[in-house]
Amino acid sequence: MNVDGTAYRTVWVGSNDRSVHIIDQTRLPHEFVTRTLSTVDEAAEAIKVMRVRGAPLIGATAAYGVCLALAQNPSDAFLEESCDLLLATRPTAVNLRWALDEMKAAVSVVPEGERLDVAYTKASEISDDDVATCAAIGDHGLGLIRDAWEALGQSRPVNVLTHCNAGWLATVDWGTATAPIYKAHDAGIPVHVWVGETRPRNQGASLTAWEFVNHGVSHTVIVDNAGGHLMQHGRVDLCIVGTDRTAASGDVCNKIGTYLKALAAHDNGVPFYVGLPHSTIDWTIHDGVRDVPIEERDGAEVTDISGRTRSGEISTVQLTPDGSPAANFAFDVTPAHLVTGLITERGVCPASADGLAALYPERAKPAA
Ligand code: MRU
Repeated sequence: MNVDGTAYRTVWVGSNDRSVHIIDQTRLPHEFVTRTLSTVDEAAEAIKVMRVRGAPLIGATAAYGVCLALAQNPSDAFLEESCDLLLATRPTAVNLRWALDEMKAAVSVVPEGERLDVAYTKASEISDDDVATCAAIGDHGLGLIRDAWEALGQSRPVNVLTHCNAGWLATVDWGTATAPIYKAHDAGIPVHVWVGETRPRNQGASLTAWEFVNHGVSHTVIVDNAGGHLMQHGRVDLCIVGTDRTAASGDVCNKIGTYLKALAAHDNGVPFYVGLPHSTIDWTIHDGVRDVPIEERDGAEVTDISGRTRSGEISTVQLTPDGSPAANFAFDVTPAHLVTGLITERGVCPASADGLAALYPERAKPAA
């Protein structure tokens, strides 16, 4: 995607050296800042404090983190230690484990002296695969938006509701939930997006909205609690969200509040789609509600809020009284029966074990 006319990915390798570069998402939407990662510790820190975030981007950054680790020390022991460090940064997005497994499988079978080259090649394959995968999700999801537009007799823009940021900032490029939106916009289909702010960290208000301003996509930021009201009044034609971990049964784990949107969509007959790459499917889990680990983050993300003051400084203020405890569950699970369809790089399928098995026959195994 372009930022002020320059094409960016969210993670890339420098042209002169092998340092890794990222967009520091903690500074958006008010400042566009890139950072250089030079060590595996810096890669782990970037994931942990969410300079990079979003399931596919967490995986791609971790892959490059392994490269940085091997540049420091190519031994088996340091590879293991570094993968453990990276894996411990964020527990919910399964892309992290997937990318580390891919990296370990690629480098552990070659001698220490060859590991660095193999690692950079593999990490760039993971990145390129994510871009191609997300573009294909966009192509398949575009059909759904076009169908909605035709069902409206092309009389008005299609209203899509999304949650959190499953945009290009959450992947290497394109996004998952946003890829169909970008493809529809670029194809001339009028689309308007309701962007849920997504408390506590406001990835919708700060990141998705920033993406749409940049790309010229018509959108309106709403408080999270407005989604149900809009659906009751016919002002949402379809919902599209992302996922951090998709169970083999089709249950989807995504940013906290996704489940409530899905309930409201179900009650109002609004189609609820989830965009996802193959790397988000956890084939070992068959009951998402029971078995997906839910990250719990610092309560300060709930009690405090950051933004730009009228005089232009970035400032953090406290919302709650001194002494009020806060709980910060970062994700929830939407059961498959509330999901109309999964938009994958291989096509759109029902959110079910059979639906996923039909698209990924090489991966699917019967539930234990
Ligand atoms: O906590 P975050 O910002 O990493 O959470 C991101 C999300 O929940 C996204 O919707 C999900 O990773 C899908 S990204 C294409």
